[in-house]
Parts: sequence; C-alpha cells; structure tokens
Amino acid sequence: MRVLVVGGGGREHALLWKLRQSARVTALYCAPGNAGTAALATNVPIAGDDVEGLRDFAARERVDCTIVGPELPLVRGITDMFAAAGLRCFGPSRAAAALEGSKAFAKDVMARAGVPTARHAVFDDAAAALRYVDEVGAPVVVKADGLAAGKGVTVCTTAAEARAAIDASMRRGVFGDAGRRVVVEEFLAGEEVSFMALTDGEAVVPLQSSQDHKRLGDDDTGPNTGGMGAYSPSPLVTPALERAVMEEILRPMIATLAAAGVRYRGVLYAGLMVAGGRAKVLEFNVRFGDPECQVLMLRLRSDLLDLVLAVLDGTLAGHAPAWEVHASACVVLAARGYPNEPAKGDVIAGLDGWDGGVVFHSGTAAREGTVVTSGGRVLTVAALGADVADAVRRAYVGVRRITFAGMQYRRDIGARARR
Ligand code: AMP
Ligand code: GLY
Repeated sequence: MRVLVVGGGGREHALLWKLRQSARVTALYCAPGNAGTAALATNVPIAGDDVEGLRDFAARERVDCTIVGPELPLVRGITDMFAAAGLRCFGPSRAAAALEGSKAFAKDVMARAGVPTARHAVFDDAAAALRYVDEVGAPVVVKADGLAAGKGVTVCTTAAEARAAIDASMRRGVFGDAGRRVVVEEFLAGEEVSFMALTDGEAVVPLQSSQDHKRLGDDDTGPNTGGMGAYSPSPLVTPALERAVMEEILRPMIATLAAAGVRYRGVLYAGLMVAGGRAKVLEFNVRFGDPECQVLMLRLRSDLLDLVLAVLDGTLAGHAPAWEVHASACVVLAARGYPNEPAKGDVIAGLDGWDGGVVFHSGTAAREGTVVTSGGRVLTVAALGADVADAVRRAYVGVRRITFAGMQYRRDIGARARR
C-alpha cells in the first residue's frame, strides 16, 4: 500500500516510524515532512493545509491511504475532498472536525450527549460577554471559538483579565474571525490527562492514556506551548476512570454525532481535567496529540496501518490494539525564542548513534549536509522504560547527546507521575 502522511512535525514522524514497521506498506510519502521524515518517507513539498494540492498529489501518485496529522486540513474538509475524488483519507469529515474547529459546537454536542464538562456560555456580542463575566466572576476561562494556533484560550484569575481577553478577541480581533465568537467557561481545577480513541463512527476503541506538559518552564511555569513532553500511561487513569471516559464521554459523543447524521471516522482526542477520580472535558481535538502521539506510537505493538484501515472500512469493532505493558516518555527540545518567536537555522549536533530510544524530528530541515532548526518545537526525544520514571530517565540520556544554540527543554517531565 502506498501511504501519505500529511504534516511535518514530531507526530507525523512518529506515525511514519510506526508505519515503516508494517509489512503492507510499499511506499511512504510525507507532505511537507522534515529532515527526520526524509529518512523514512519521500518528502513532498506541499503544505499541510494545501488541501487541493494534496488531493491532486494523492490521485497522481495512486496513494491508497492518506493519514492526516494536523487539525487545519481536517477542519477545512480534506477528508470530504479526498472522498469526492475517490481517495481514502483517515480523519474526520469537515462536519465532524468542527468538534475542534468550533468550541461552541463542541460544547453543544457535549450538552446534548450529557458529557461532563465546565459550565459555559457562548457570546457573539462583546458587551454581553463582559456582563456575564461581571456576573460569574473569576477564575474563569475565555476561549476563542475557532482555531487560533493554540493561543485562543485564556485562563483568567481575575475578572479584569477576563475583560481584557474578551476585548482582545471580540473587539480587537487578535485571533481574526476565529475569535469574534467566544466561549466563557467555568475554571476547572485538577490535573490534565489526554485520552484518545479510534472510531469508525460506531465502534470506539480506546488507545492508552497519556499526559502532556503544556507550559514552557519547569513546575508548570511560563507561557503555554503545544506541549513540552509527555508520558504514557497516566497513573491517574485507573481502569475505572477509563471505563467512565469511554462510557460517559467518548461513546456518547460519537453516538450523538451519528444520530445527527455526522459519522466520525478517525482519532478523537479528549483533553480531560481529572479531580477526585472524575474526569471533565476541557476540549476535543480531532487528531492525535503532539507529543502524545510519539509516546503512544512507541508503545503500540499492533500494526498501525491495520487499525487505520479498520477505521476507514468501518470494521473497527473487535479490534483491540496491543501495547507494550510498561511505559514511555518523551522530552521536547524547543528552539530559542519559542513559543513567541522561535529562531531558525541553528545547526543541531548529536543526532546520530543513540539506540536507547527514538529521536523524532519536529521543526528541522536539512541544509548542506547538516540538520538545522526550522520551527518552534525542534525534536522529541522518546524512550520506553519499565515505568514512567525509568522511561523519563532513558529519554534524558538521549537529550544529553543533543545540542543546538539556545536549546530549551523541561527538566521535570513526568515529575508528577513519579511522586
Ligand atoms: P484548550 O485549548 O481548550 O485545551 O485549552 C488550553 C489549556 O487551557 C488547557 O490545556 C488547560 O490547561 C487550560 N484550560 C482550558 N479550559 C479550562 C478550564 N475550563 N479550566 C481550567 N483550565 C482550562
Ligand atoms: N499536546 C496537545 C495537543 O496536541 O493538542
């Protein structure tokens, strides 16, 4: 089978790394890819959000199956466009991808499905949003409705901050059209967990739990990022909690969409806040998390392509992915200036010769025989271990081999799981 992976980050490198192990894969492409994916696949210089360009490429190269990494092409309807051209594409349709593309839509489906989540209200009018904040007070969370490159959420500890966030999003348009509508919601305390499942629109099959570190600095300080490291499994996700997440959150979401005529095929990612052994939904993503995907792919023993095809064929029922029973962890190495203004073009040393784990590339590019930084998150260093602490220790062994100017990373990945 000829397989195309759309995207160019660590998540996509991990998907390719796993697909390479599948006997059924005869050709692998990645669009646009990075310096790491080039070793596993043919990189194709088409941007991940150039949906027409990707469709034309897939048709021309007789690609049998396309797997989409990032949310933007999904929200723009890449799956529908491929289907119209008779091409198979793993990921939800545009209508289903609105779970990530519109937070108000996600909240509406959650309400209909009876899914536990923060109390909220949706506003198209800034004055009404400001009055609501005065009424409910702080802490409170202000979210741009649409995709805002991970920057659309402001957790506000004072009402003044919430008023400023509403003003910036709705009146000053800092997120463009994505922020003209906002969701204002109750602040939830607890610990965050990522829980992903595969679904063909009927069957819902859980993947392993994981936890991400969103803040740039140790002890969860500094600005929010796309994710600075992850580990799997999450010790918070007991068998009882996993059952509750499946029965109270993921299955009702898929069933509620199906009842409305929206068949969800792909990965559904629930970002959860866990407190007192119970989970509430913070957000849904319609794709694998990055860097959560990296730790999951390291632990997945089943053939990824088999699972992807079962989703596409609607034959997922009865599939139960096999996993490494122990743990995995990863540490993200970010460029200087990340997340605000990441520097590019710094030469990366120490990439070769480590066999204690896997170095997945994110923002890297090849230049004159060297590998240089070309994005905010540069590398994800991942390892398996006997438990989370061991996996973390092994991942840091890999980290210590790598250097580039201004390299930033957290020293405390997995600290909570190890306490
Ligand atoms: P989201 O993009 O919705 O996941 O939000 C980004 C981050 O904001 C989450 O990972 C949480 O850390 C935080 N967050 C979002 N919603 C809430 C909430 N209701 N209560 C507390 N923190 C939140
Ligand atoms: N690591 C969080 C995400 O992929 O959205």
